[in-house]
Amino acid sequence: MDLLLKGKTAIVTGGGAGIGAGMCETFAEEGVNVVIADFRPLEDTEKQAKELAEKYGVGTLAVRIDVSNPEDVERMFKEAVEKFGTVDILMNNAGKMGVNKIEDVTIPELRKYEAVNIEGIFMTCKEMVKLHRSQGKKNSWIVNTVSKSAFSTNSGGNSPYIATKGAVASFTRGLATEVGREGIYVNGIIPGYVITETTKNIPDGGKRSEAMKKIIPIGREAEPKEIADVAVFLCSPKACQVMGVLMDVSGGTML
Ligand SMILES: NC(=O)c1ccc[n+]([C@@H]2O[C@H](COP(=O)([O-])OP(=O)(O)OC[C@H]3O[C@@H](n4cnc5c(N)ncnc54)[C@H](O)[C@@H]3O)[C@@H](O)[C@H]2O)c1
Repeated sequence: MDLLLKGKTAIVTGGGAGIGAGMCETFAEEGVNVVIADFRPLEDTEKQAKELAEKYGVGTLAVRIDVSNPEDVERMFKEAVEKFGTVDILMNNAGKMGVNKIEDVTIPELRKYEAVNIEGIFMTCKEMVKLHRSQGKKNSWIVNTVSKSAFSTNSGGNSPYIATKGAVASFTRGLATEVGREGIYVNGIIPGYVITETTKNIPDGGKRSEAMKKIIPIGREAEPKEIADVAVFLCSPKACQVMGVLMDVSGGTML
């Protein structure tokens, strides 16, 4: 199926690794110009951008950004518009993950989660809506990365993460209601267990996969690209009846 995305421009926050890198690749496969926004060293992101451009013949732009910094967010949109003229798609994928037992949660630590997982998403969405209105666009697409932890958790011990991802879920639905009539599609995806460098490096990473097979109905963790493909579909005009949905891409873990 042609997703009708050729020539569009997408920003992917946290696009440098894991699920975000998968999203960048899927967009490039679909002929979409990709803005890879990440807070790792810029030269790493530039290398990734060059490789995608050479492999798929799309335009790419590497931006160093911390999504929790509103000035970085504004600069990212400015640079993207300078290079590509507009931004059609925003993938709010960057997120702060971690384990914090409730007795260890301090206000400064909690605020770090809030800053990335809530404020970051608010600010990028605000810039996207402003751009949509100022350019009189017919359609724009936003996809926010939630987590199955927002709804069900079998590990516990990560309440700041769970709480802030719960906020992403409710914000997604609220924003869809607020701006949907203007042609801005706002949806979310709910990954379960995804194999990335970060999750590979968690303590007991090796045993985790074995345990996951028992928990996940499809019997295995997800590859980043498998999450990315569904997220990119949500940005297609072919998904024009999908609005304000939190799409479960957890291999049935949510069941
Ligand atoms: N991996 C999983 O099992 C899983 C499950 C559910 C939800 N998620 C969510 O998916 C998203 C991506 O997770 P992942 O596992 O691919 O992560 P990852 O750690 O593999 O990659 C995240 C990327 O985001 C970048 N990043 C982190 N904080 C940033 C910030 N403040 N500003 C800009 N860039 C930033 C990192 O540099 C990195 O390149 C997150 O929102 C996470 O909460 C992941």
